[in-house]
Amino acid sequence: MSRYNFDEVIERHGTNSAKWDNNMVMFGREDVLDMWVADMDFPVPEPVVRAMRERLEHPIFGYTFPSAGLLEAIVDRAKREFDWDIKKEWIVFNGGVVDGLYSTLQAFTHPGDEVIVQPPVYYPFMGAVKNTGTQILYNPLKSTNGHYTMDVENFASHFVPRASFPIRVPKVKAFILCSPHNPVGRVWHPGEIKAVADICVANDCLILSDEIHAELLLKGHKHTVTAMLSEEIAERTITYMAGSKTFNLAGLGTSFAIVQNDKLRKDYVASRAGRNSGNLMGMIALEAAYKHGDPWLYQVREYLQGNFDLFRSYIEEKMPKLKVSNLEGTYLAWVDMRELGLSPLDLQRFIREEARLALDDGYAFGPGGDGFQRFNLATPRPLVREALERLERAVKGL
Ligand SMILES: Cc1ncc(COP(=O)(O)O)c(C=O)c1O
Repeated sequence: MSRYNFDEVIERHGTNSAKWDNNMVMFGREDVLDMWVADMDFPVPEPVVRAMRERLEHPIFGYTFPSAGLLEAIVDRAKREFDWDIKKEWIVFNGGVVDGLYSTLQAFTHPGDEVIVQPPVYYPFMGAVKNTGTQILYNPLKSTNGHYTMDVENFASHFVPRASFPIRVPKVKAFILCSPHNPVGRVWHPGEIKAVADICVANDCLILSDEIHAELLLKGHKHTVTAMLSEEIAERTITYMAGSKTFNLAGLGTSFAIVQNDKLRKDYVASRAGRNSGNLMGMIALEAAYKHGDPWLYQVREYLQGNFDLFRSYIEEKMPKLKVSNLEGTYLAWVDMRELGLSPLDLQRFIREEARLALDDGYAFGPGGDGFQRFNLATPRPLVREALERLERAVKGL
């Protein structure tokens, strides 16, 4: 089995990398170290490159449907990774997961309908809700010393009719679940998901379960597929998955939804007319990754664990005012910097100008994000060390 060297820093400047080639536009200076947008600075599994190269030997790139081998690879993977029995007919291809979320909201909601999200959360969820004319209902996560849980009581309260003036008729049509949760790093337990999913079932509310990070787990954590929790839940859940986070294929614009309910699936597909064919190279890469990428993935998981252990212990030892949430899944570390006493915009300036880091500002993730920063740890360890040293110097200079 080949051993990958993830310590190697591969130059990404000049590749139109959204992460590395946007510093002036995004952060106002060139010399920041990029640890923001969620892709990895690691080369993809070798079999993926080989499969793409082979396909390039044929010089025609016309409309292409998903191969039988790809559908089989997805069905097999669901079984192998999650013990989830799915049928190939349930799979619908999307560009990205965000593209899938937009289509779903367009297909199943009307302007003014309400959609629950649980901030701090991946900010395009809020964009999808706003841009499709629906309204955001926040169910903020609760934090106890940096450990986050869902607020089930508050979740349920969104469905209770309120006799106020003007009369509020509840019309919650959908709930977007982030599982595992970006940016707080939780891998939800079955009971936690079931508590809110059962409320959705009782109230005829769709569950959009974004499980894009399902295979990026740290030691001792196990992913729960929402749609496996009960038949009633499965019947109203759309599950979004991809190889893009797991195998670092985000630029190939390929993901898929799994929709068990025939009527839901038919309406979902109809809403995507003309956009269901999938991306040719993305599908080739996904099939190769699912079939042959596991040795690489095991090494990546181990490496991410090492990065997180270093990151947390360094901060605990040298910057005790900062608090790092435990990372159970994803490769995105969530750091509470409120004890520095800076306003969200001062913290942003401090991170860019003093620490010279390009991170994701916590406030962008909605309520509960002020005073936090998100670090992408899917990067060679020497860069993690460099970032920690930059941060330490800046914090000591305050
Ligand atoms: C929870 C979550 N969903 C979706 C995405 C983006 O997916 P895509 O590029 O497939 O739209 C991300 C990327 O960071 C993410 O963290």
